[in-house]
Amino acid sequence: MAIGGFLEEMGRLTDDARTALEAAADEPAVERARVEFLGARSGRLKAIQKLLSGLSAADRPAAGRHFNEAKGAITALLAAAQARVTGGGRSRVEAIDVTLPGDAVRLGHVHPITQTIRRVQEIMSRLGFESVDGPEVEDQWHNFEALAIGPEHPARDPLDNFYLAVARGADPLLLRSQTSTVQIRVMERRRPPLRIVSLGRVYRPDTADATHYPMFHQVEGLLIEKGTTMAHLKSVLRFLASSYLGGDVHVRFRPSFFPFTEPSVEFDMEWGGRWIEMGGAGMVDPAVLEAVGYDPAETSGFAFGLGVERMAARRYGVADIRDFYRNDVRFLQQF
Ligand code: FA5
Repeated sequence: MAIGGFLEEMGRLTDDARTALEAAADEPAVERARVEFLGARSGRLKAIQKLLSGLSAADRPAAGRHFNEAKGAITALLAAAQARVTGGGRSRVEAIDVTLPGDAVRLGHVHPITQTIRRVQEIMSRLGFESVDGPEVEDQWHNFEALAIGPEHPARDPLDNFYLAVARGADPLLLRSQTSTVQIRVMERRRPPLRIVSLGRVYRPDTADATHYPMFHQVEGLLIEKGTTMAHLKSVLRFLASSYLGGDVHVRFRPSFFPFTEPSVEFDMEWGGRWIEMGGAGMVDPAVLEAVGYDPAETSGFAFGLGVERMAARRYGVADIRDFYRNDVRFLQQF
């Protein structure tokens, strides 16, 4: 036999062995391939080895070298196939190391503003204030007129509100600019006595800065009970401030004006040695009581509204309320 034919035969054998061993999907298949190619008695490699003796003495050394290389290659392919189907020489079960730590599931948590809302609801519930919701898309009656904010009032300016291109009757609807709307909605439906608190989103086209955001949250409180005075208002605000901020927080009233309260005040809280402006409040104006069908001679009450972001910023020492809405997980994870 000529060496050319021998080498051709060797090449074919190596190719077949590679194809068979790489395709073998389980241990019996690898074993069948092993017997076919490397079997000691009737393997194909053994058969080709016998051809060596038929070559000329001059060709035999080179042919022997090729034979050994091919045998080494097929043996390596067999080892790889065995490792593959047995999981690196161990059984499949052993290949899973149950002592390794698992992949931790990342759990989210409640946003600091939502945490603040829930906390305030809980504090107010201790004083008997029931949490209620109102719509964020409002009509002008609830956002302005029933709150004694007349047609000429600057608070209705299109530049100070998000009016919608949708109208109810002749008046365009708007995104509510204050939660005082909820006072009206509740008083229209229910009779005194009332103690409600409403926390939700409000919208104003304010330029965002460290203390303003065009979308923010307010806490609205309303108490309607015979014989209510400003002293009750102050006590409730002081209880809220002390419970939320911790410690003995003082509350200060400064004269102010809101069309729907009389008298009206801005109120500050003293915390950490500083007075901080928190919101507006006052005794519900008799005109508002009349607008919802109550008799001002029979009943009175107070209302207050304050910014949730500003409360949370104080509580957590956040210098810029925009941080609450940047959605930077590194910031939010801290709460
Ligand atoms: C009101 O909105 C009144 N409705 C409050 C009120 C309720 C008075 C009941 C009387 C009776 P004012 O516009 O001042 O008031 O807003 C109240 C609070 O909301 C502010 O003190 C401030 O804490 C917060 N606030 C106002 N604008 C923004 C804003 N752009 N971003 C964040 N917080 C704001």
